[in-house]
Amino acid sequence: MKVLVTGGAGYIGSHVVRQLTARGDDVLVLDNLSNGHREAVGIAGLEVMNLADSVALNRILGEFRPDAVMHFAAFIEVGESVQNPLKYYQNNTANGFALLAACADAGVKNFIFSSTAAVYGSPENTPIPETASLNPINPYGFSKLFVEQALGDLSASDDFRFVALRYFNAAGADPSGEIGESHDPESHLIPLIFKAATGERENISIFGSDYPTPDGTCIRDYVHVNDLADAHLLALSYLQNGGESAAFNCGYGHGYSVKEVVDTVKRATGREFEVVDAPRRAGDPPILVADSRRLKEALNWTPRFDSLDITVRTAWNWELNRRY
Ligand SMILES: NC(=O)c1ccc[n+]([C@@H]2O[C@H](COP(=O)([O-])OP(=O)(O)OC[C@H]3O[C@@H](n4cnc5c(N)ncnc54)[C@H](O)[C@@H]3O)[C@@H](O)[C@H]2O)c1
Repeated sequence: MKVLVTGGAGYIGSHVVRQLTARGDDVLVLDNLSNGHREAVGIAGLEVMNLADSVALNRILGEFRPDAVMHFAAFIEVGESVQNPLKYYQNNTANGFALLAACADAGVKNFIFSSTAAVYGSPENTPIPETASLNPINPYGFSKLFVEQALGDLSASDDFRFVALRYFNAAGADPSGEIGESHDPESHLIPLIFKAATGERENISIFGSDYPTPDGTCIRDYVHVNDLADAHLLALSYLQNGGESAAFNCGYGHGYSVKEVVDTVKRATGREFEVVDAPRRAGDPPILVADSRRLKEALNWTPRFDSLDITVRTAWNWELNRRY
């Protein structure tokens, strides 16, 4: 099968690309390497280009004629989206719309979109089902929700079908140690704690220890990146088999507190480091945990890495041997 993957040189995209190429799919990655890494693409084809270049986009789609498009390319920093919202609406929303227009021109009918738990904002109830209200609390969440809206409208007007996968907190790395998470700046918890473990940072801050959770720190649903990758391949089969357009939560349905993650990193790395209590950050909901029954039932998703210990160990293995 021919699959075009935008953002396939990034963290999550590269893990999906690895699984697609391993099973023999013809994969073309489209990435401007603004936050991605050439080495992460492996044996897939790579076109270094900006999604905003609609001429190149139309040419590539017209020449490659993919059976499906997976769209990972985006900016991902919530805080930056608050400071510079247009940067997010331009890259995540406007470039997403341009990609959809190019797909329509090229006759692409199957589309898989990297959405996010941020579309829910700060929900009242947990775990969060897909039917919960969509109330983003930052431009990043809105920039993704607008694309989901466009996908829904398109699929209602045409024989185009999509799956939007709403990831909770992606974490971990491929056990091979050949690809992993490498963001600059890094804002994700586990790689940030590693920086304290390796001495690259003086300490790690915990933002808020007075939340209404058992140990007072925020709880998140950390889903291993290879389980996310599995969900993409299953979504592809689902669409090929005529599945209806849908959004699915991607998380395990249970979470860990920041303190539990810190303790797991200490155990997995065997290193001690300073942990500092800091004030709460604005806009951090106490608990974000996915209700992922729909993904398990409709796509037959069976997580292989549902263990914080394994997630942290695979990420640490990457951290110690990282190539980019
Ligand atoms: N990491 C998470 O926990 C998480 C959670 C929810 C949703 N997501 C979504 O998943 C997707 C992938 O996230 P990630 O962590 O792998 O991010 P990433 O930054 O590692 O990957 C994004 C890739 O897109 C590329 N890119 C960005 N803008 C581009 C453009 N205009 N043209 C071409 N390439 C462009 C970057 O170079 C990068 O390789 C994003 O859409 C993100 O919003 C991630």
